[in-house]
Amino acid sequence: MSSEDKIVEAETPQEENESTPVFASGDQPSVPAGTYEFPENFLWGTSTSAYQVEGGIKNDWSEWEISEKRLAWLDKHGYEKEDFICGQAVDHYNRYKEDIVLAKGLHNNSIRIGLEWARIQPEKETWNVNALNHYREVLKEAKRNGLQTIVTLWHWTNPLWLVGEGGWSNKKVADYYAEYVDVVIRELGGEVDYWITLNEPLMHVFGGYLRAYMPPATMNLFKAEKVFRNLVRAHKKAYKKIHKHFPSAKVSITQIVNYFEPAHSWNPFEQLLAKGMHYYWNHRFLARTKKYLDYIGLDYYFHDRMVWYPPFRKNKNAKVNDKGWEIYPEGILEVLRYLKGFKKPIIVMENGLADASDKYRASFIIDHLYYIHKAIEEGIDVRGYCHWSLLDNFEWAYGWDPQFGLYHVDRKTFKRTERPSADVYRRICEGNRLEIK
Ligand code: BGC
Repeated sequence: MSSEDKIVEAETPQEENESTPVFASGDQPSVPAGTYEFPENFLWGTSTSAYQVEGGIKNDWSEWEISEKRLAWLDKHGYEKEDFICGQAVDHYNRYKEDIVLAKGLHNNSIRIGLEWARIQPEKETWNVNALNHYREVLKEAKRNGLQTIVTLWHWTNPLWLVGEGGWSNKKVADYYAEYVDVVIRELGGEVDYWITLNEPLMHVFGGYLRAYMPPATMNLFKAEKVFRNLVRAHKKAYKKIHKHFPSAKVSITQIVNYFEPAHSWNPFEQLLAKGMHYYWNHRFLARTKKYLDYIGLDYYFHDRMVWYPPFRKNKNAKVNDKGWEIYPEGILEVLRYLKGFKKPIIVMENGLADASDKYRASFIIDHLYYIHKAIEEGIDVRGYCHWSLLDNFEWAYGWDPQFGLYHVDRKTFKRTERPSADVYRRICEGNRLEIK
C-alpha cells in the first residue's frame, strides 16, 4: 500500500465519536537520489518509554503534574490542565499486543520498550509480582513476533518512596537502583537482548535540578552535581550486576548528543561555547562510564549553533518541527563521527520529530538514514536505528500537544491510525535499504 492510499484511507468516515486525523502530503528528501544498502542484521525498530505510553502509573511525574506549583504555572499561561496530565497515557499497558503487531507490521526486527520502576517497586519493601509478570508477557510477546527486545530500566521517572528519601540526590540511590535492577535481571533477564540502564541521564540533571521543568523541579547546582555522580554510580553498579548474571549481555545508556558548532568558526568565544557545551552535555557522562558500556545508545534531536550573545544559540531553522526544533539531519553524521572515538558499536535509540500533520516525517527519516548510511560507509560501526516513536505519546512537560508517532493515537478512543510516513519507514525496514528517487 502506498502513502497516497493511506491518505485516502484516513479521509474515509470514522466511527462516531472519533476525530479524523488530517495528514499533509509529504515533503521531499534533501539528500542525493540513490540506493543505500544497510548492513546485514541491522536493527530496525521504534522506541517508547513506559510512562509516556502505558497509563495508570503513580510516580513522581504523576504527582508533579497535579502539584500546586505546576497547576498555578499552567493556569498563569492559560493552559488546560487536562492537556498536561498523562493519566491513561495511550493505554499501551492494556494494548501492548496490538502495538507489538503494529511494530511487526513495520517489518521491524526489534523494539525498545521501557519498564516502570514505580510499578515494579511501588513501596520500598514491596515488589509487584503482577507487574513483573506483565512485563515478562510483553517481552515474550515481542519475541513471538520476531522482535529483539531493547529494554530501558529507567526513563527519568521515580517511585514515590524514593522521592521521600531525596530521590537521586540521596547517596543511597545507586544501591536502591541496583536492587531494582537485580530483581529485573532475575525475573526478566532471559527475555532481554539489549539493556539500557538510564535514559539520557543529563536530562534529569538539567530538567530536574537546574531548569526546574521536570520533577523535582528545583534549581540547585550543588544537588545537580550530586545527582550526576549518583547516576554515574548507579549505571556502573547496574552494569556489573547485569554482567554477573549474563556475561555476554549488551548494556549501555542512551545519551542525548547534540551537534554543537560555533556559528562563526573564526570566533574564539563561540568556539569555546560550543566546546564547553559539547563537553558538559555530550561527553562528560560518557567519559565517566565508557569502561562500562558495551555499545553506545544515541538519541539525536538537536543542532545548536552557538553565538556569542544571549541566548547564545541561533539556528538557521530552514525547516522546523511542530515544536520549532530545527530539522538538521546532517548533524547526526557529525555526532556519529564524535562517537566513533569511543570505539564501540552504536545504536541510534531515538530520533524523531513532533509532526502532527506528518508533513516532514518521511523526509526526516530518509534524510537522517542517508547520513547514518554515510557514517557506516566511513567505517563508523552503527548497528541499528529505532525511530521515536511508534505511537503518539505523552510528551512530558509539553503534555499532549506534540505528536511524535508513526501512528496517530486518538486521545479519547485510543484508536491507532497509521500516518503515511509509517509506510515509508516500513519499506526501508523491509528492504534493509534506502531507495531515494
Ligand atoms: C526522550 C523522550 C522524548 C523525546 C522527544 C527524548 O529526549 O527520551 O522521552 O519523548 O526526547 O522529546
